[in-house]
Amino acid sequence: MANYSKGLEGVIAAETKLSFIDGEKGVLEYLGIPIGELATYSTFEETVFLLWNGRLPTKAELESFNAEIRKRYDLGKEVARMVLDMPQTAEPMHVIRTLVSALGLYDPKPNAIDLASVRDKALTVLAQTPTMLAYFQHHRKGTPIVLPDRNLGLAENFLYMLNGKRPTPTMAKALDVCLVLHTDHGLNNSTFSARSVISTESDLYSALTAAIGSLRGPLHGGANEGVMKMLNQIPSVDAAEAFIQDKLAKKEKIPGFGHRVYKSYDPRAKHLKVLAKQLAEDTGNAGLYEKSARIEAVMEREKAAKGIYPNVDFYSATTYHCIGLPLDLFTPMFVVGRVGGWSAHILEQLADNRLYRPDVDYKGPHAVSYTPIEKR
Ligand code: ACO
Repeated sequence: MANYSKGLEGVIAAETKLSFIDGEKGVLEYLGIPIGELATYSTFEETVFLLWNGRLPTKAELESFNAEIRKRYDLGKEVARMVLDMPQTAEPMHVIRTLVSALGLYDPKPNAIDLASVRDKALTVLAQTPTMLAYFQHHRKGTPIVLPDRNLGLAENFLYMLNGKRPTPTMAKALDVCLVLHTDHGLNNSTFSARSVISTESDLYSALTAAIGSLRGPLHGGANEGVMKMLNQIPSVDAAEAFIQDKLAKKEKIPGFGHRVYKSYDPRAKHLKVLAKQLAEDTGNAGLYEKSARIEAVMEREKAAKGIYPNVDFYSATTYHCIGLPLDLFTPMFVVGRVGGWSAHILEQLADNRLYRPDVDYKGPHAVSYTPIEKR
C-alpha cells in the first residue's frame, strides 16, 4: 500500500475552516484569528460562537448566546440523580463520558442530526459539563451541591459551583483563558474520533462520548495529569535536572513535551506559561512554576534540536493546580473546553458529510484450512 502512514501522520482526512496550525512556525488560529488575540480579548463563550458561526458575534448576539448557555446550566433531575448514584471512587473522566452519553437518554429526539438540532443539543452539553463535574466533586467529597448561578459566565460559574464561593476575577479569567486555548486544535485524535462517529450519521451524544474516550489517553488530553504527577514526584527545583535526565536515559517520554504537529513552541503553551507564572506567584506556588521552568530548560538543552518543546498540557498543569482544581479534574476541564471544538467539527462534518472508511494493509495468511477443535 503506497500511501500507508502509521498513525495517519501527514494524512489529510478532512477540510476545515475552523482552526489552522503551522507546526513549524508555532501558529494556531481559529477562523484566522491568532490564538493569542483570542486568549487576550475574547471569552470562552464568544470563542465557541466564533467556531459555530464562522464569525465573531455582535454585542446583541453574544448576549443572547450567553443567556442561552446560562439558561441550560441546571442538570435535569434524572441526570442530577444519576450523579448522586455514581460510585464516589469513580474517575471523573469516566463520570463525564457516562453523563454526556446519558444526556441522550432524556432527549426526546436524540438522533436528530439536522444542523439546528445538533447545535441546540451541543449548547446543552456545553452548558452542563461544568455542572456535572462540580456536582460529582461534591458527591464524592460528601459536601452539599452548589446550584449554578446564571449571573455568572461559564468559567466563573464552574469555580463558584466547585468551591461554594465566587472566585477572584484573576482565577475566573485564568480558567476562561484555559478554555479558550483548549477549544479547538485541528484534526487531533479526539476531534477525528468525533468526526468519524458522526460521519456514520450517528448522533451528537455518541460522537462526543467517543471523543471524550479518546481525550482521556495519556498521549492526548490525559498528559496534563501526568505532568502534575511528575511535578509532585520531584522533591525540589534542584532535583528536576537529575529526575529528567534519569527518565531520558531510560528512554521514557516526559509528559507535556512533544507534539505530532508542533515541531516548535506550542503557541498555547507560550500563553499558558505566562499565566502559570502569574498565578503561581499570586497563590504561593512559585516553587511549582520554577520546577516547571527548570524542566523546560533541561528539555530545551536535550530535545529542542529534535523539535520537542512544551505542549499545551505542560503549563496547564501548574495553572489548574493554582486555580485549586483537584488533579483528576484537569483532563475533564479539557473536555469542557473541547466540547466547543468537537461540536463545531461535528457541524462541519454534517454540512458536507462523507462516511469515514479507511483501508488496511492486510499482513496475515490466506486460504488457511479450518482446524477442528479436537485437533488444535
Ligand atoms: N519526551 C522525550 N522524548 C520525546 C517526547 C517526550 N515527551 N516526545 C517525543 N519524544 C521523542 C521520541 O522518543 C522520539 O525519539 P526517537 O526518534 O529517538 O525515537 C521522537 O521524539 C519522536 O517522537 P514520537 O513519539 O514518534 O512522536 P509522535 O508524533 O508520535 O508523538 C506525542 C507525539 C504522542 C505527543 C509524544 O510527543 C508524547 O508521547 N508526548 C508526551 C505525552 C504528551 O504530552 N501528550 C500530549 C500531547 S498534546 C495533546 O494531545 C493535547
